[in-house]
Amino acid sequence: MKVLVVGNGAREHVIAEALSLSPQKPELYAYMNSVNPGIARLCAEYKIGDILKPGEITRYCLEKDIELAVVGPEAPLDAGVADALVEAKVMCVGPRKAAAKIETDKSFARNLMRKYGIPGCPEFGVFKDPDEAERYIDSAGHDVVIKPSGLTGGKGVKVMGEHFDKAGAKAYAREVLETRMGTIPEVVIEERLFGEEFTLHGLVDGARVVGTPMVQDHKRAYDGDVGPNTGGMGSYTDAGMILPFATKHDYAMGLEIMKKTVDAIKEETGIEYRGFLYGQFMAGKKGVSVVEFNARFGDPEAMNVVPLIDGDFLEICRQMAKEGLRANIAFRKKATVCKYLVPDGYPEKPRKHLPVKVDEKKISEAGGKIYYASVSEEDGKVYTSSSRAIAVVGTADTIWGAEKVAEESLKHIEGELFHRKDIGTKELVQKRIDHMKELRGA
Ligand code: AMP
Ligand code: GLY
Repeated sequence: MKVLVVGNGAREHVIAEALSLSPQKPELYAYMNSVNPGIARLCAEYKIGDILKPGEITRYCLEKDIELAVVGPEAPLDAGVADALVEAKVMCVGPRKAAAKIETDKSFARNLMRKYGIPGCPEFGVFKDPDEAERYIDSAGHDVVIKPSGLTGGKGVKVMGEHFDKAGAKAYAREVLETRMGTIPEVVIEERLFGEEFTLHGLVDGARVVGTPMVQDHKRAYDGDVGPNTGGMGSYTDAGMILPFATKHDYAMGLEIMKKTVDAIKEETGIEYRGFLYGQFMAGKKGVSVVEFNARFGDPEAMNVVPLIDGDFLEICRQMAKEGLRANIAFRKKATVCKYLVPDGYPEKPRKHLPVKVDEKKISEAGGKIYYASVSEEDGKVYTSSSRAIAVVGTADTIWGAEKVAEESLKHIEGELFHRKDIGTKELVQKRIDHMKELRGA
């Protein structure tokens, strides 16, 4: 079968790798904004173009007789790539535009939860008028989070008590509206949630939602969870479905919420959600709340979770896109730790075009894996751009073991890059466990 991957980050690299390992021996293609050297190596052929152009991607699929496409990032989904592919009878993993609104329109997501009585929805209001937004913040009686409704490339959300005080929150809500920040002229203001965040991904075939192992991402740039927010500096899973600070009940609640959300999307839009669904949850004092949904795999979380899927990933994708998931999907009982190498100065003032020397053989000998993100390859040499550069993944029986493999592997990548040394260490995981004990009692 001929299969296309849309996107060129580390998430798409791990997706392409998992597809390439299928016993069906697919012929892989990629549609990318720029060359990802890892993806390029796995492909029979690739095309550099604009991944936001549904017509061009569809034309490429028809020209190459591609039967199945897997869309990695959210922006092409929002641009209608899945709609165009489905109309052209190309099977697509990734929801159609109207269903992807669960990520691309935060007021749609919150209003859907309210309308369908989906548990885990914080108190919220949606505003177009800055004066009304200010009055809401004044009368809320608790800390709030300010979110531009539309896509902002992950940089729009600000949290009262972290980024600013009440006056700052009001000023920011006004700024969001007056500068028309994001793709929608609306601001969502919601109750600030407290606890430990975790990510749960669902494999969704329009009706069924199969849950995958819980992951925890680390947004802050520096060790000890300090510094500016990033796209995610690294993440870990435990051997099994649940993270050490969370409970089976947290997992079950998260999955139940995702199932109800998929049903609600169908009821509301008439569209069956087919693809990966990302639920970000806050495990708090009393149960689980929804921080947000994404219409795709997380990045870095995909590098932890996708390789744990025990089975034919291509067949799983085909079934999601077409007749429905039939297979019993299992996961390898291994812990994983993913750490991103990022250019010096990231995220605020990243240095660009730095050379990186990667010794893939030594990394493989150390038991690690790497996935390329924002890099380019020129004359066989790898260079950074301004964003996260290379994801390194360790796998072992324990989180600490996986962390050691990741660190050992990182020694074989040279360049003016940094990473978080604390992700996946006993100390940091213990901090999460202690935090939850403090919230919930022993
Ligand atoms: P988002 O861009 O929606 O992923 O939000 C970025 C980050 O803001 C999340 O990863 C959370 O850490 C934080 N956040 C979003 N919503 C809330 C909330 N209601 N309470 C506390 N933190 C939040
Ligand atoms: N790791 C956060 C995200 O993919 O949205």
